[in-house]
Amino acid sequence: DWTMGAYREEAIRRIREEVGDAKVICGLSGGVDSSVAAVLIHEAIGDQLTCVFVDHGLLRQGEADEVVTMFRDHYNIPLVHADERELFLGELTGVSDPEQKRKTIGRLFIDVFQKHADRIEGAAFLAQGTLYPDVIESVSFSGGPSVTIKSHHNVGGLPEKMGLKLVEPLRELFKDEVRALGRELGLPESFIGRHPFPGPGLAIRCPGEITPEKLEILRRADAVFIDQIRKHGLYDEIWQAFVALLPVRTVGVMGDGRTYDYACAMRAVTSVDGMTADYYPFSHDFLGETATRIINEVRGINRVTYDVTSKPPGTIEWE
Ligand code: XMP
Repeated sequence: DWTMGAYREEAIRRIREEVGDAKVICGLSGGVDSSVAAVLIHEAIGDQLTCVFVDHGLLRQGEADEVVTMFRDHYNIPLVHADERELFLGELTGVSDPEQKRKTIGRLFIDVFQKHADRIEGAAFLAQGTLYPDVIESVSFSGGPSVTIKSHHNVGGLPEKMGLKLVEPLRELFKDEVRALGRELGLPESFIGRHPFPGPGLAIRCPGEITPEKLEILRRADAVFIDQIRKHGLYDEIWQAFVALLPVRTVGVMGDGRTYDYACAMRAVTSVDGMTADYYPFSHDFLGETATRIINEVRGINRVTYDVTSKPPGTIEWE
């Protein structure tokens, strides 16, 4: 694509100009955005870049391994794999308010980055895969009151104390443009086509307090749902699909016995940029089959619902 080819050259030129000889740290989340940002920056400044992948314990099934493998197999980008699961889950214990969860995760991310930044001599920049929709959802609209729908942990000024400047090479782009840029940079199609995944991860798909037990149930249910979507060839038609584990147990019957387990909600939407979204019109057969699979395969869930809310008025994530 000629346009993206030109954009890529221009972006690389600007990164070099902005960064000079300084070292850059890039937080890898496992998502397309931060991956494209990392590969783009690596192309611009080579080993002046060090990636930091934080496992906050809020990732999906198998995700941490996939990210580390992918960056070690496909790219020779210096990568710090920070296992901070205990830190995050510990700090999130007893926290149930959505904004409080987001703020806790955001604060810890900054702490963790600072810790790793301090170990990298000469690091002066923190790179982030912030997109245009992230930018405009976080600012006050002209004339009106300042409205923050959700605190994105990956947007906004980092505390001065961190002493790092931000470099955000994707902040003019929409999602489809980031994907085109990723293709231009030679990222594998399987990776480019992945649904977006939010920085706060499974924390915002587990309303209420998070526990390791709930996260494990959620991971399993989510994996079944995604497997169903892939098997039915629907993955690429959907912008985002996931399961949210509801903070409620309900009564069910299994064989001869009574069960008292969690309810979950499947969520799948179509969207162009994440700003507005429609729920995906699965067939009733698909929904029934998937519900049966989740209940049979995931211990701890005995009721499955499908979220038919569009955005607006709903948001895509549950928190
Ligand atoms: P909502 O839930 O606001 O989400 O409709 C819109 C899109 O943004 C993603 N999202 C986030 N991405 N950090 C991110 O990197 C965040 O804190 C965050 N919160 C929501 C969400 O997955 C959807 O694609």
